[in-house]
Parts: sequence; structure tokens; C-alpha cells
Amino acid sequence: MSEDDKYPEESGRRRFVKGVVGGAALAGVGATGSVVVNSATTSPGKGGGATQAWAIENTGGPAPRGMPQIPLEIDSEGYIRGIWPSVETVTQGGRQIQVAEMDLGGSTYSSEWFQYCGVEGYQGIQPSYESDNYFRSGSSPAYTWQQNAKSQGDRFHVDDFSNYEEWGNGIGQAGLGKPATGTWRSQDASDVIPIQVVRSTQVEEAAQDDEWLQASTQEGFIAWLNKCTHFCCVPGYKQTESAAKFDASNEVYCQCHQSTYDPYSVVQTLFTARPRPD
Ligand code: FES
Repeated sequence: MSEDDKYPEESGRRRFVKGVVGGAALAGVGATGSVVVNSATTSPGKGGGATQAWAIENTGGPAPRGMPQIPLEIDSEGYIRGIWPSVETVTQGGRQIQVAEMDLGGSTYSSEWFQYCGVEGYQGIQPSYESDNYFRSGSSPAYTWQQNAKSQGDRFHVDDFSNYEEWGNGIGQAGLGKPATGTWRSQDASDVIPIQVVRSTQVEEAAQDDEWLQASTQEGFIAWLNKCTHFCCVPGYKQTESAAKFDASNEVYCQCHQSTYDPYSVVQTLFTARPRPD
């Protein structure tokens, strides 16, 4: 599917644009469009090293940076899956290793984006781990809609989010976006990779003139690795009333030490990815 197909003109997405809230949040997303991408990611270890990634912005608390975005696509039947970079063998430090890396939306997208908090040792993060890459509902969904509609292991479908323009759960403002919690590349693996996916009009609007978002989101869906970059807890979008104390009712909130993230502000981060263990 070409990038143009992801947001076809006939989608009518412009009519989804909200007023003040959308405009404020869009300013955050849109500002990323001018960032120059440095594709020269260095990898001194087994796929580790200085890494530049797109992430949902860290807006407060002790977390050092945002959580890495997972580029996604929707298949011909309407199921949502993450994009995994193409795998190739390269020579690093005299050794041959596998890397998963590709050009996407004017950036270099690499599996190194997810190599922190021990995830670098997970089976699903190994470049050649075989997976269909679909996002699946986890064992204990955080949202009532998901508990009612999905069983563990079910794939997410566009229709699951059809009321995303109105959805709310009493936390923060309704209509900002409809979320789900799930897993990725964890079928038959011993470690589970936690993800969040949200469908929002704000993402649709922001993607209109942003090369990266055009390539990494579709029909308003955005996803990220749901591991707090502070001490690796699993945060949540609109999952707890206590987020209000930290002005995060409409953001992603980590209960461990009150870090907050804005899923509608995608920014670039530079960090040292941990090498994968053998
Ligand atoms: S704020 Fe410390 S683990 Fe999230």
C-alpha cells in the first residue's frame, strides 16, 4: 500500500477536525515536521548504540524521553498491525549480525527504537523473530469497551474503533481518541511486548502535512511501545482518575512516578539503545 493510499482524499478526514483542543494539540504534532532526520544511526554493539527515534512526547515527570512510536498499517480486511523493519545481515565490528532497519517516511526506522528496559532481550525484538505483526488484545484490557468486545489474543479491527469521535470513559475529555491496550510480536514468545494504540481525529489531521505521520499512522491510528522510559512501568492513556492531579487526564500517565506523555505530540528522541544479548 502506498503512503498516499493511507489517507485517501475521499476519507473526508478534514470534517473530523475539532476546535480549540485539536488546534492546540496539532501545534505540537505539526512542529515535528521541520525536524531534520539524521539517518546515521551508529550501532557499536549487537544492534545497540546512539539511536534516533520518533516518540510520543514526554511532557512531565522523571522520564528522560518519550516512548517510541510503532509505525502501523491496516490490512485489506481492516485489521491493524505494526510495521517491522526489513531484516538484513550486516558486518559490525568484524562480526556479522542481523539488523531490522528501513527507510520510512523520510526517517530511518529501526528495531533499536525498542531496545531499552530489557525489551532488547525479548524474543519479539529480535530482528528475525517471525510474527504476523498484528496488534492483539492482552490478558487484562484496561478499558471496559475492550473487556466486552475482545478476548485475549484477538486482533484489533478498524470497526472496534468506529465510535472514536465520541468515545469517552469519564476520564478527561470525551472525543479525543479511543484507546486500546495490547501486545505485539508476542505470540508464542515468553516475554510480552506491551503496546497502546489510539484512534484520534488529531492524528488524522496532523498526518495531512507530515511525511513521517503519513507513513507511520493510518486512518487516525497511532501506536507506541508502552514501557515508561523512566523505570519501565506500563503507563496508561485515560486509565486512572489520579492522572488529573498531574494534569494528565487527556494524556498517557505512569502511576509509578507520575511521568506523563502526550500521544498527540510526536517528537524525535536521541538515546542510547541497549545492545541485544546473544
Ligand atoms: S515514572 Fe517511573 S517508571 Fe514511569
